[in-house]
Amino acid sequence: MDKNAKMQTTTTKTTDGQRSDFLRRLAAKEDELRWLYMELYDNSSMYAELTERMGAFYRERKAELRALDLERESRPDWYKQNDLLGMMFYIDNFAGNLRGVEEKLDYLEKCNVNYIHLMPFLDTVEGHSDGGYAVADFRKVQEKLGTMEDLEHLADACHRRKINLCMDFVMNHTSEDHEWAKKARQGDGEYMSRYFFFKDFSIPEQYERTVPQVFPTTAPGNFTWIPEIEQYVMTSFYPYQWDLDYRNPRVFNEMMYNFLFFANQGMDVIRIDAVPYIWKELGTSCRNLKQVHTIVRMMRLIGEIVCPGILLLGEVVMEPAKVVPYFGTVEKPECHMLYNVTTMATTWHTVATRDVSLLKKQLDIVSRLPKEYTFLNYLRCHDDIGWGLDYATLRESGQEEIPHKRYLNDYFRGYAGYSNSRGELYNDDPVTADARFCGTTASMCGIEKALEEQDAAALEKAIRLDVMLHAYMFIQSGIPVLYSGDEIGQLNDYTYREDPNKAEDSRYIHRGAFDWANAEKTGDPETVEGQLFSRLNRLEQLRKTDDVFRAEADMWTIDTWDPSVLCIARSYQGEKLIGIFNFSEYDKTAWINETDGLYQDLLGGGLREARGVDVPGYGFFWLKRTEKTES
Ligand code: GLC
Repeated sequence: MDKNAKMQTTTTKTTDGQRSDFLRRLAAKEDELRWLYMELYDNSSMYAELTERMGAFYRERKAELRALDLERESRPDWYKQNDLLGMMFYIDNFAGNLRGVEEKLDYLEKCNVNYIHLMPFLDTVEGHSDGGYAVADFRKVQEKLGTMEDLEHLADACHRRKINLCMDFVMNHTSEDHEWAKKARQGDGEYMSRYFFFKDFSIPEQYERTVPQVFPTTAPGNFTWIPEIEQYVMTSFYPYQWDLDYRNPRVFNEMMYNFLFFANQGMDVIRIDAVPYIWKELGTSCRNLKQVHTIVRMMRLIGEIVCPGILLLGEVVMEPAKVVPYFGTVEKPECHMLYNVTTMATTWHTVATRDVSLLKKQLDIVSRLPKEYTFLNYLRCHDDIGWGLDYATLRESGQEEIPHKRYLNDYFRGYAGYSNSRGELYNDDPVTADARFCGTTASMCGIEKALEEQDAAALEKAIRLDVMLHAYMFIQSGIPVLYSGDEIGQLNDYTYREDPNKAEDSRYIHRGAFDWANAEKTGDPETVEGQLFSRLNRLEQLRKTDDVFRAEADMWTIDTWDPSVLCIARSYQGEKLIGIFNFSEYDKTAWINETDGLYQDLLGGGLREARGVDVPGYGFFWLKRTEKTES
């Protein structure tokens, strides 16, 4: 900090104690922010505008949010404990509108949830919305869901109950109905420069040679012809989602103002949608370019200066080597949290193959990463499951990528491998022979089929699998996030096929409306809802009350000498926990040999040794060592 800045800080402190926090943070971080900005844009007046607006957003920030910022600044690991449990949902599916969500906070607390991810709720055009990921107005809530005041009201209500709110920040593109796109469509150069326009197909054609397709069947190609101005515009996702050009500092600045605006509405977590895509360069895949990291790092710094209570969650649905760089380095962090996407996909691969070896290897990779890295663990989300597995390893045992993906997709549609799963393919690409998969956790575990066939034994087995998968997810370090409905075993919803706005997009099969009549059954042990809910509830309670689940714990895997049985161990300050998970329907024995004392069976009760443990089909154990030892 230079002398002038120091003096200014001290002076301001006497007149306005709060403003000094902004200046203190700015002084500490501005050098790097300016350097990165200049490196990317070399534009000092736009930089000056940015910092001035940051100050303005800080001044507008409510006292309660500033207090939360200070509190979180003083314990930056606040989100890395074992007490957070998330749930994600579409507002209309869950509770009609924002006020409805507020009325359902008791239910969410009953689910032990203290982190809610509200799926996209900003203004969008029905039929051209991509589930809300095509934003037409960043300052307006979809009318059917409520208003910005309702959002703020909900955020206040959540904070009173210590519930964190997460929202999507769709920064890669806008809807074609966004004001900028509308002006660009009229040929206004100022606005055209915020997107990628091309007079003919010669340059797009060059891009197409190196840029993969996101939606190869539902939205092929990366460009869309705009007849009004007779030009092509870049559209990596759907044709109505126009990619923003972050080479233009106006785009960056305006999007940062939108980010800060939502920080001030009371968001705790900002999910940066499709982050790897935000910088494009001819001759590249237009994914994960180094400028993306500059932008995310700047966003982190901007957040830390204006609203340090906010977390950035990066949506990086890529292979592990591409995901981890989005954490940045320990000295220069980027995202606070990332999705544990490869683990998620590998989990379902394990369900379909009953072979835990690839999952064991994946968990070993994750557990060797620095403990500063926080993953968001999940079984299902609103998107399809892409089979992004470690094919190099699979190939060693003779499993080739394309036939293996075909097997997984057949398995989960219930066609192969003694499967009871139900679901549908997504973007089945005849050219690459690639397809992804959609379905709810419960349907993928066999609950739907068993109920339909009224097969009590199959139902019992399916519920066991579902609970075992949750127990396995909860034992991992990081923040577990449930997809709404999974807590009561919600099934696939096939009604999307009748809605012309949704029929083409099979992701809607697992985005059905939450069934409140079924949620009434959570207290009835005779029902699927009651069984799942109570068993998950028990696991959630154990997880949040036992320090051995904290993110700082060491985690490792143990060989069980059975291909279907996975064993995960955790240890924290002398406490040790072992989780054993049987991924097959047959009774198995985990041939582990932990000779370090007696263990308590946390779910079944009683003491036992952690040696030669018999595990029923789709069963699991959480065993906690009784003696604390020096570690
Ligand atoms: C993200 C969302 C997905 C959406 C895409 C385009 O991947 O998760 O649902 O289609 O971004 O915004």
